[in-house]
Amino acid sequence: MKISANSKRCVLSPIRKFYPFSEKAKAQGKKVYHLNIGQPDLPTPEAFFEATQAFSQKTLEYAPSPGMPVLLDAVQKYYEKLDVTLKTDDIFITTGGSEALLYTCLSILDPGDEVIIPEPYYPNYRTFINAAGGKICPLPTQPENGYRYCDREKIEGLINANTRAILLTNPGNPTGVMLSEAEMQMIADIARKHNLYIISDEVYREFCYDDSGRIPCMGRIQGIEDNLIIVDSVSKRFSSCGARIGCAITKNIDIQDALMKFCQSRLSVATLDQIGAAALYGVDDEYIRRSVREYRHRRDVCITGLRNIPGVMVEEPMGAFYVMVKLPVDDTDVFQEWLLTEFDDHGDTVMYAPGAPFYETPGSGVDEVRIAYVLEENKLKRAIEILGLGIARYRKEKMGIE
Ligand SMILES: Cc1ncc(COP(=O)(O)O)c(C=O)c1O
Repeated sequence: MKISANSKRCVLSPIRKFYPFSEKAKAQGKKVYHLNIGQPDLPTPEAFFEATQAFSQKTLEYAPSPGMPVLLDAVQKYYEKLDVTLKTDDIFITTGGSEALLYTCLSILDPGDEVIIPEPYYPNYRTFINAAGGKICPLPTQPENGYRYCDREKIEGLINANTRAILLTNPGNPTGVMLSEAEMQMIADIARKHNLYIISDEVYREFCYDDSGRIPCMGRIQGIEDNLIIVDSVSKRFSSCGARIGCAITKNIDIQDALMKFCQSRLSVATLDQIGAAALYGVDDEYIRRSVREYRHRRDVCITGLRNIPGVMVEEPMGAFYVMVKLPVDDTDVFQEWLLTEFDDHGDTVMYAPGAPFYETPGSGVDEVRIAYVLEENKLKRAIEILGLGIARYRKEKMGIE
């Protein structure tokens, strides 16, 4: 039986690729430290559980397709605090930011259309874009330059008749790069000049570590109302990945019409999750400030540990909770398998996400990894220590380097 060409161009998540090996290692009694997945471990605010437990209707009905009014109002008020004025009609509640990304791609792309994305990038973008028949046009960056990508000449050099959009993650997964206000303005100018969409994935919006207290949002930039689609989510902000609530936000009426068709086709997003998510937006801002302080501390612990490993190259990330790291090994895919099958230190080993699948350009990222610093301090320190021990032993045993 035939399988679609679009699905064949999609890939399984590289972040979960070594799961069978880690299960086997665990079955053999090893302890595996997970630096591979961006699953926040801080407690979800009680408000979520209280709101869902208080649900008293006798029937669990479908919610309205674009979202329940209580959640749309909560999202609108949250954006007001960011100085972004929205109508509730501009907001489409989705099953996580993931569905917002998929529906955005389905709304704006035709087969052959290109989306410029700085690489390394969040690998699931490949699935969303390919499912819509589109194609990623990578904007290369350099580890030596902290993966910064905002270079007008380079971006404009990639634009051609098929280019439809620029997709940004700000702050960035996997690099932690955060755009300055001037850089955001530059992207906006490019999009306006070349009539492109900007898909601004801001699911890590509050996780910024630059001391300015600035919370970035493309929605504050004037004059790009028709270009901009913001992708948002409660997953990271409220440590509630399992709630599966996100949204796509746009003032472009044509995209709104397209999004509505996709939202109606899946009828609705889970009612109880929407009720819980609405309550999350009522939580004291101190919850988010505390989370951000905690992740900033973990970033510092992580970077200090990594810089103590000889041959490791790492720049301090400014946001989100990931860092791309260049390791002194030949192939981080092979090294990961070795860590899980042949190595342990007192029964402990470690997992990261190998770097190559974060790139579109073949051959890039083979000696890089993405580390998610979502473990608490002591576990994080130990995980990085194991990584250092593993690198030293692998270099000696497999690469013949002392
Ligand atoms: C950059 C980025 N965008 C979107 C998502 C989707 O998250 P969710 O579907 O949980 O909102 C993630 C999840 O890790 C992410 O890292």
